[in-house]
Amino acid sequence: MVELLMPVPLSPFVQETLATRHTLHKLWEAPDEGAFLRSKAGDIGAIVTGAGILVDGRAKAIDAAFIDLFPNLQLIANHGVGYDHIDAAHAAQRGILVTNTPDVLTDETADTAMGLLLNAVRRFSAAERYLLDGKWETAPFPLTASLRGMTLGILGLGRIGKAIAHRAEAFGMSIAYCGRHRQDDVPHAFFTTPRELAAASDVLLVAAPGGPETRHIVDAGVLGALGPDGFLINIARGSLVDEDALLDALEHRRIAGAGLDVFPSEPHVNPRFLQLGEVVLFPHVGSGTHRTRRDMALLLVENIDRWAKGDAPPSLVAESRLVRGGKR
Ligand code: DGY
Repeated sequence: MVELLMPVPLSPFVQETLATRHTLHKLWEAPDEGAFLRSKAGDIGAIVTGAGILVDGRAKAIDAAFIDLFPNLQLIANHGVGYDHIDAAHAAQRGILVTNTPDVLTDETADTAMGLLLNAVRRFSAAERYLLDGKWETAPFPLTASLRGMTLGILGLGRIGKAIAHRAEAFGMSIAYCGRHRQDDVPHAFFTTPRELAAASDVLLVAAPGGPETRHIVDAGVLGALGPDGFLINIARGSLVDEDALLDALEHRRIAGAGLDVFPSEPHVNPRFLQLGEVVLFPHVGSGTHRTRRDMALLLVENIDRWAKGDAPPSLVAESRLVRGGKR
């Protein structure tokens, strides 16, 4: 039995499963968080967390200051593949391991990306609103662009980006990509900058990790290069796109449309988006199916159980792969 701290409420399944195996402290239930941390921080061996879950209207970043409250912390286990809310580099310096839940959500997230892409280009949500508003009685819905022959530029060709590429090819799209480096085993056209990729793409799809390095890599210049017939899709993190630049581009028709599953201040969505007909907005549902969320939960629990037994957790993040001190 080890002592775990959960700062934000993960699913009942995760909470119940962990509570039967370990001592689970739920920080949001503590009547006085400061007093709880002062008395218990030294006992906590692992933090169990997830992105985008609010407590009292605020997200909980697992930043350096928070990590340093726990002198005996050895593991931070994240429910989700993206871990930009965790300072994994600082954790590594302290010999603390960080795990995430990759692979099990790849296909679901790629499906969501295709949903956004189809919806943005073919305007299916707008078409449904048109029917529901009774407008079909007076005139047919306007024709739209077609996916066939379009180039999909993928910004961040990792596991999820590749799963999207595979699907998009079946829809008749050509694929191009931009990333930290060219991948020799990938047949698609490679571009060294987001702006060059955008200029060569009809649809620019953001699938790179969040964090300080990628903040606003889609800016006004990239959107300008995408052009008035181009679409932007973001299934990664809101932080990668300069939201003001995107809103300006949409409002002034400098791009044709956008499909967004993620926003900088989730779950708050800038009300300017709600006035636009050319956007498709999803409430961060990328991995949101019963099956995939359960698989993510099981991998999260496996990471914790393996660490608790003194073994290496199966899905360490890149920053943790060289950490030696984290094993119990
Ligand atoms: C992920 O796994 O990163 C999803 O976006 C949920 O945070």
